[in-house]
Amino acid sequence: MLKEAHTITDAHSKWLSLAAKRVDTAMVKVFDEMQPAGSSSLAKAMRYAAMGGGKRIRPLLIYAVAALSGKELNQIPGLDDCAVSIELFHTYSLVHDDLPCMDDDDLRRGRATVHKAFDEATALLVGDALQTMAFNLIAKSNLNAQQKVTIIEVLSRAGGVLGMAEGQAIDLESVGKPLGREQLEHMHQLKTGALLRAAVKIGSITIDLNEQEQQSLDQFAHSLGLAFQVVDDILDATADSQTLGKTAGKDAAANKPTFVSLMGLEAAQVFARELQEKAMASLSIWGENADLLRAIAIKVVQRES
Ligand code: IPE
Ligand code: IPE
Ligand code: MG
Ligand code: MG
Ligand code: MG
Repeated sequence: MLKEAHTITDAHSKWLSLAAKRVDTAMVKVFDEMQPAGSSSLAKAMRYAAMGGGKRIRPLLIYAVAALSGKELNQIPGLDDCAVSIELFHTYSLVHDDLPCMDDDDLRRGRATVHKAFDEATALLVGDALQTMAFNLIAKSNLNAQQKVTIIEVLSRAGGVLGMAEGQAIDLESVGKPLGREQLEHMHQLKTGALLRAAVKIGSITIDLNEQEQQSLDQFAHSLGLAFQVVDDILDATADSQTLGKTAGKDAAANKPTFVSLMGLEAAQVFARELQEKAMASLSIWGENADLLRAIAIKVVQRES
């Protein structure tokens, strides 16, 4: 079991890269089917935003949770639609996050942000349209009616005023204000953790899990979600823009409270490790078949971009 070593085996690494390709292929198909829509540049800009790279961590979480069932991914109805849906939703959050009225970023996933490559109004509409597309995909998928309603409830809650949007609002209101540890954790859990947690939950809805199994996954996602943003804060302070594919050093330049500004770089790195351990410990009820989730936790904390 991937527990002590904290290295990802070749087999798991290969599985994850195939899963990332799988969601990309499914996304292309979805965009191709949408192709004739309209004559404006909106559809083109949506594809530009969604298909230009990205680690696909949220879809990977959905696939890795679904794999706990022991079934082939092809045998799980609606799974690809769930994976595409969460990635579109996440992409929408990035497009809006980069707007001049928010973080004002020029670079995303190694190329010009949507409002730079197109224009601001288009970027706003890309976000709107990606978000509705995410829900539309779930609604017309092969999931059963109960699964659809539950997933729509989970995703809409995670993206709104009880999740990502509220986290983003706190982020913007916190510029120049030093937040305490609890407040910072709260903001990070909302702006980033909520969607990662939703990904794990959505994965679990596509398969049959008991209460204890669901709880263990939710605890895993809770620690991983925070770890993810702590690492994002660390990379903003330590990596270069080319490796990151986004502008490095933005948080300090914009005077954003982060785990690096709160506790310093080294303590933030220790904290990210602790969260990784905590996430892995939450999976103790699972055997080897949760190794893909363990591999994702390692990847999240050890990543360089
Ligand atoms: C970046 O998310 C924004 C945060 C929520 C921290 P990712 O690091 O998952 O970005 P991509 O999808 O790989 O570009
Ligand atoms: C954004 O956090 C989280 C989102 C909801 C998109 P950041 O503003 O730190 O994300 P990056 O660093 O621009 O990707
Ligand atoms: Mg931001
Ligand atoms: Mg940003
Ligand atoms: Mg950041």
